[in-house]
Amino acid sequence: MKIVALVGSLRKESFNKQLVETIGKRYSHLFEVEIADIGILPHYNEDDELNPSEEVKQFKKQIADADAVMISTPEFNWSIPGALKNALDWTSRVERPLVGKPVLPMGVSQGALGTVRAQLHLRQVLTSNVGAKLMPPAGNEIFIGSAGQKFADGMLTDETTLQFLDQVIGKFVAFVKEQETK
Ligand SMILES: Cc1cc2nc3c(=O)[nH]c(=O)nc-3n(C[C@H](O)[C@H](O)[C@H](O)COP(=O)(O)O)c2cc1C
Repeated sequence: MKIVALVGSLRKESFNKQLVETIGKRYSHLFEVEIADIGILPHYNEDDELNPSEEVKQFKKQIADADAVMISTPEFNWSIPGALKNALDWTSRVERPLVGKPVLPMGVSQGALGTVRAQLHLRQVLTSNVGAKLMPPAGNEIFIGSAGQKFADGMLTDETTLQFLDQVIGKFVAFVKEQETK
């Protein structure tokens, strides 16, 4: 199974990127994770949508070719970062690679709330014309707060959080397979 990950933060030491990398390593027996570089995408402009840049074409193809998508986002001013919104806006027009695609939202913050407000917005965007297929949220929402205490040496190391991830990832893999047989 191939999963493309979108990381809302562009910084090198991003905890959200570290989460995606941890998932890629920990569940390498279940799927391969490839991080899409959303930082190189131009600002969405309707004038360009029928003939977008190579970066946009490649980004859409990367998603279209994947079995599923993970999105790990920080919270910026109670919402998702502009770079992530921009990437999702590109997916919502002309060729729409996220339509019907299973997507697992998640997020890491250094504060206590673990991106609750950002992920509410993210779910709203994903269910708009973006058209993503979301797993029912009950029991499957990944909010990781207090990141400073849960990561070490570039990886998520908090055992309770890892065990919770084991459950949600297991359910997500089953959800993706279920969509493929439909
Ligand atoms: C512009 C900006 C706005 C932020 N706004 C919020 C916020 O609204 N809520 C919050 O919990 N954290 C906020 N933060 C803190 C980030 O969530 C925190 O820096 C997080 O670690 C960034 O994710 P990253 O480690 O993946 O880069 C903000 C940070 C920045 C740079």
